[in-house]
Amino acid sequence: MRYLQIEGGHRLAGKIEILGAKNSALPVLYATVLTRSVSVISNVPDISDVLTTLEILKRMGVIITKIAENTYEIDTRNVDFCEAPHRLVNSMRGSYYLLGAELGRFGRAKLGEVGGCDFGERPIDQHIKVFRALGATVNQTDSCIVMCADRLVGNRITFDVVSVGATVNAILCAVLAEGRTVLCNCAREPHVVDLCKYLLRCGAVISGAGTSKIIIDGVRSLSGSDFSLSPDMIEAGTYMALGSAIGEYIEIGGIEPSHLFCIYKTLVGAGADIRMLDDKILVKGGSLHSVSVETAPYPGFPTDMQPQLVAAMTTADGVSHISERVFKTRFRYVEQLSRLGANVEVIGDTVTVYPSRLHGATVETTDLRAGAALVIGALCADGVSYVKNSDLIKRGYGDMCKKLVGIGAHVSEHETVSGDGVFP
Ligand code: EPZ
Repeated sequence: MRYLQIEGGHRLAGKIEILGAKNSALPVLYATVLTRSVSVISNVPDISDVLTTLEILKRMGVIITKIAENTYEIDTRNVDFCEAPHRLVNSMRGSYYLLGAELGRFGRAKLGEVGGCDFGERPIDQHIKVFRALGATVNQTDSCIVMCADRLVGNRITFDVVSVGATVNAILCAVLAEGRTVLCNCAREPHVVDLCKYLLRCGAVISGAGTSKIIIDGVRSLSGSDFSLSPDMIEAGTYMALGSAIGEYIEIGGIEPSHLFCIYKTLVGAGADIRMLDDKILVKGGSLHSVSVETAPYPGFPTDMQPQLVAAMTTADGVSHISERVFKTRFRYVEQLSRLGANVEVIGDTVTVYPSRLHGATVETTDLRAGAALVIGALCADGVSYVKNSDLIKRGYGDMCKKLVGIGAHVSEHETVSGDGVFP
């Protein structure tokens, strides 16, 4: 098991560069399966979910060549239908995009149970609704989904809930379906827009990307294309929260300002000293007072930033109230944060954060963003902390250790087999 050793209490200063978005990379990489061609995807983050996705694609016969740093040539001309290994599928949630890609390419799909962050119930009823609405026969058991469709035919579909994953899977199925598909109540996240932009470059006919209504006219085939992923707004937001809590002066580069407005507005409203420029963000820390915010689908405050904001607000001099409206039970990290001395209380779907004096402790990462929150807490704490299961953080943060050391953090990564005697 890998863990991070963190000596907190140091003011951080320096530059951090943001790479491509995890939640754009997965949809776009799976979408290449629809093209029977060659694409070049750049600004691909060095994260384990991407490596897992590339491994799944390779098992299907996709030829993947790393042609430069963070840039891959993806050749899907000779791809066979094959069931992805459960070990890979179950290591993350994004593998469910294989369903849309396989159904669109082969007219059939089969997928074992997906994994991903465990912060409560994560149904896929909206995905199944889409597949059936476009003409697929869906057989779903607890451990597997098997689908087939003689042909996919466009339809009008209104999502019962705003779902990033279901919106992505609907787009993957509809671009090669016969006729027009109208999707209503869609997710508007930048990663949905990235997918549509890539598919448009491949010859798809899509309008409304980034709005709640997306219209797709199916085409007979798609060509390959080159595409550069948008920067990861959650990675950028994570370092904005860290810098606001304990930064001396942190410069965050490689960002897309238009994606960060709600995160920026929320942190500045909490007292952060942040300047947003065209291609970078300047963050000074130590002035947080309080905030009241609730998470919401984009362009609202992202649920994927909730744990990190809570961790940063423990350094504030006032009381904050942060409500989770997307994943109502996304609070497993709170118990771990409390071990660092955080004075936080969860009532219903709202966490109240009181001024806290954080101290070193041994904590355990329960999911990707929880891990990022614990790292923020440990960096703000007086003393040495150990953050266990740090591999979960690598699912969505490339080179986090290196980036933190680059701004003066005292962080190192270690591995232990038994853990005996390592953690106080
Ligand atoms: C995606 O998850 C992201 N994962 C999540 O990021 C992110 O938190 C989430 O979108 C919201 O932005 C990937 O992109 C791989 P949803 P997803 O479908 O698609 C309900 C991270 O840390 N719902 O938008 O699974 C659901 O329960 C991860 O990077 C249904 O009811 O999320 C939730 O309340 C964590 N039925 C809401 O919709 C469905 O069929 C939003 O979920 C699907 C979802």
